[in-house]
Amino acid sequence: MNRRTAAELNRRMLENLKANRTDLASREIKIPAESFQSLEQLARERVSLFINTPQPVAFAGELTAPNSYLTLDILDTPVLLTRDEGGALHAFINACAHRGAPVASGSGHARALVCPFHGWSFTTAGRLRGRPADACFDAATPDTDLHPLPVCARFGIVVVGLGPAITQTQVDNSLLEIAEDLDALGLANFRVLDRREYRVAANWKLVNDLSLESYHFAALHRDSVAQMLSPSAVFDTFERHSRWAFPLKSIEGLTEMPEEEWPESLQGSCTYTLYPGVMLLINALGAQMIRAEPGAHPGESVVSYIGMHDPQSDPQAARQAYEFGGDVFAQEDLPMAEACQRGIGASHRDLPLGRNEPLLQFWHQLWDKASN
Ligand code: FES
Ligand SMILES: [Fe+2]
Repeated sequence: MNRRTAAELNRRMLENLKANRTDLASREIKIPAESFQSLEQLARERVSLFINTPQPVAFAGELTAPNSYLTLDILDTPVLLTRDEGGALHAFINACAHRGAPVASGSGHARALVCPFHGWSFTTAGRLRGRPADACFDAATPDTDLHPLPVCARFGIVVVGLGPAITQTQVDNSLLEIAEDLDALGLANFRVLDRREYRVAANWKLVNDLSLESYHFAALHRDSVAQMLSPSAVFDTFERHSRWAFPLKSIEGLTEMPEEEWPESLQGSCTYTLYPGVMLLINALGAQMIRAEPGAHPGESVVSYIGMHDPQSDPQAARQAYEFGGDVFAQEDLPMAEACQRGIGASHRDLPLGRNEPLLQFWHQLWDKASN
């Protein structure tokens, strides 16, 4: 984060903390219970927010070396990310041109990706490299290569387009509105710690909601997050993306200090949310990405939690921060989202989003507009 942004956020967070308030929306709004239960709405969301929208799916630092690869399942699409021999990034549908089997699984390094079914092999640039009994088939054409998807790595974030209508330009430009902030984070140099996946019995929006308000810190995270962080948040929106920062309790120490002597870094935690709802959690040691996708029905989602560390920070300390955040998320937040899903399903009551939950309001209105 650049010094100017950090200083401005520190000043605004401190003002909110001193006044014991958080940034507010102008009024309460209501979300229909239907939004978390309707199969039709889920189908519309899958198309408009996921299939037809460029998706931030990984950190560029998850695959950096020539001939490295990473496989992902994005909604129902098996995706293969590679760096070719020259280090250029590619994305493909992870389906062999022979009968559709995946040509790679997990992550790793390989000069050739060999399909485990009949042994066709492909280069990391997606070209057919060889196949047993080659003479039994017509000559190779682009149709015998892997099926490419538009992809880019900008600001250290890999963005992929799944739907056939998505163009390379759309993928390249999908983070432009928030470029200045993302660029200053230096994520492109960050190194990977780990990637976890959770299957969650809650709607994908309820999972995202967990990372968009600090109202729950004092109750749900009384013994964890609330020990260190204050809920006096500040938020900003950048067209379809958002930034949300809340201070360490220790920021109060700045009250006694002239502003010129304040530390240059952000005295708190910052969450960027990238359209259509991918969380980028930034702290002093590194960054985490939380990506929640719809599952097969409205009460189901698949959640990835990826940790990176700043090369200038101690990797051990960064790993501890990643694991602490992941444990709080898995043990306190996700079970609450699952309980809420059951409660909404039983009561069918519309949900109030308070004035103190402005980012929830912003995102639900955006999701609603895109899918209705
Ligand atoms: S499906 Fe890959 S070689 Fe047959
Ligand atoms: Fe939480």
